[in-house]
Order: sequence, then structure tokens, then C-alpha cells
Amino acid sequence: MNSMAMSQDIIADWEDRHQRLFGTEIVKLRHRLAETGMFTREALGRLIERCPPQELGLESMCVETDRPDRIYGELGGASGMEAIAAIEKGRMWMNIRRIMDWDPEYRALLDRVFDEFEARMPGFTTFKRNIGVLISSPNAKVFYHADIQGQSLWQIEGIKRVYLYPRSRIFITPEIVEKILLRETDEDMPYENWFDDYATPIDLKPGEMVTWPLYAPHRVQNHDCLNISVTMEHWTKQIWNSYAVHYGNGVLRRTLGLKNTSVRDHGLHVYPKAGAAFAWKKLGRQISGDVVKTRDFRIDASAEIGRVDIG
Ligand SMILES: [Fe+2]
Repeated sequence: MNSMAMSQDIIADWEDRHQRLFGTEIVKLRHRLAETGMFTREALGRLIERCPPQELGLESMCVETDRPDRIYGELGGASGMEAIAAIEKGRMWMNIRRIMDWDPEYRALLDRVFDEFEARMPGFTTFKRNIGVLISSPNAKVFYHADIQGQSLWQIEGIKRVYLYPRSRIFITPEIVEKILLRETDEDMPYENWFDDYATPIDLKPGEMVTWPLYAPHRVQNHDCLNISVTMEHWTKQIWNSYAVHYGNGVLRRTLGLKNTSVRDHGLHVYPKAGAAFAWKKLGRQISGDVVKTRDFRIDASAEIGRVDIG
């Protein structure tokens, strides 16, 4: 990271109003991540090569069915740059996960970003911060889903259209929220085409970032170009309380058959429900979100679609 980049804010166009909007509305801002030099193809190629295998997610789709048969891949002997070239010509996406756990430079950047947010928003305190990089093929899609924690998406290269839907029970029911938080479901959720009439579409370009309300459903469609994006996640006390309430409600609904459970995420009732969530976890009945997957393909930049089948 050069010294000039260090002295500048990462967010280039922050205004006072964003303090009130952040986490509650869709907020799109300009960023200077590229100026750190940490997200060039060369830098990311090196990052891929030192990524622990368990943190390198590589997925594609069965060409015949398009959905829902996801297949999982491995780097094999490909260099990081070869992997990026293969993704550029194929139909794949690579997830470089939890970079802050194994690269101190990126961890420092992550802390710098959230320190900047916290300095601009008194009372906004984050924990369990997470940074990942998503490298995905031209026209790749991420299906309609919602996430457990606070999310932001930072575009580095290429353009992707992000469709953001209202956080209402029309587009995501409390039951679906519970299923996601209890990890009972894959990330795909019930979706109907007319939902798009109510979506906010955002074409995210290099140098732009977007963040949205907690649990707001979204889906992503790459333009016809390689896409490199940074994903960041965070928790706040409020996000944690919301998690505990929905999680607890989910447990109560399953164990006691309750129909009308409150989803307010503040007040005393949070704590018994957080306790219920804890008890549920201790019972060991939570389904693990990370299942060990077999590998179906290997990166091959010389192949027409950038990959070859294994086995
Ligand atoms: Fe997401």
C-alpha cells in the first residue's frame, strides 16, 4: 500500500446523511480500494496462491441444467493468474474467504475501512468483521437470497447488476429469515419474476460500493465481463439482537409450535430468546452451514470453458 493511499479516506464521497441511512436504506458510495494496489489481478493472483485450500471456494454449474446443480472445483496446479484467466473465459465463481484470518495486510485494510465508518458514525460499533474477494465469470448469477449479517459489496473490475428487494414479509417472510438464521435452508429462497417490479436495480461499477438493509433480499447478475468484487461483512449489537430474536423465535416455533412470535429486536425479551438460541445450539441440533463437498472439476486455463471434470 503506498503512502498516498494510506493518507486518504477509503470512502470518497461520504456525506452526513449517510450516517442516518447506513444499515437502514440502500447506500451507494464511491471507494478508493483500487488505489491500495491490493486488488490488481497480479495482487489477487498472489492472494489466491497463498489462500488456505479450505478458504478457497470454487463453484460452477452443471451446464445441462443451469440450476440447481452446483458443482465444486479446485485450483489444481493452476497459478492465481491462470485461475483468473480461466474464470474470465468460463462460467465459474471463486470465493476467497476470510482473508483477514490469514493475511495481515488485508486484515489491516478491513480494520481501516470499519474504523473509518465508526469514526463517521458515532455509536456504530462493529465486530466479527469479514473480508472476502469474489471473482466471477461474465454473465454469472447469484440467485435470490438474504444474508445473516451486515453486508457491503465493493466493485473492483467489471460491472454487475445488483437487484435489491424491499425488506418486507412479501419478499422475505419471518419464517424464511428464521430458516436462514437456523441454517436450515440453502441460500436460494422462494422467488417470483414479478418481484423485480419492486426491486432497486443498481449497476455496480469499479470504484463503487453498496450496502443495504439487514435481511433485504437480493440477487446479482454480472454484465458480460469478468467481475472482481470485494465483500465485507460486519456485526453490530443491533444485528446480533436481531439474530438472537429470530433465532430464538425459530427455536420456539419448532419446539413449542408458537405462531405469533415478536420480531422486535430491542427490549428485555431479547435475552430469554438469546438464551433459547444458545440452548438450541448446545443441543447440537443445528445443521452445519459448511458441508464438506466433493470436488467435481479442476481449473484449466487452456480448456475452452476454463475447467476440466475430475473423476
Ligand atoms: Fe448476499
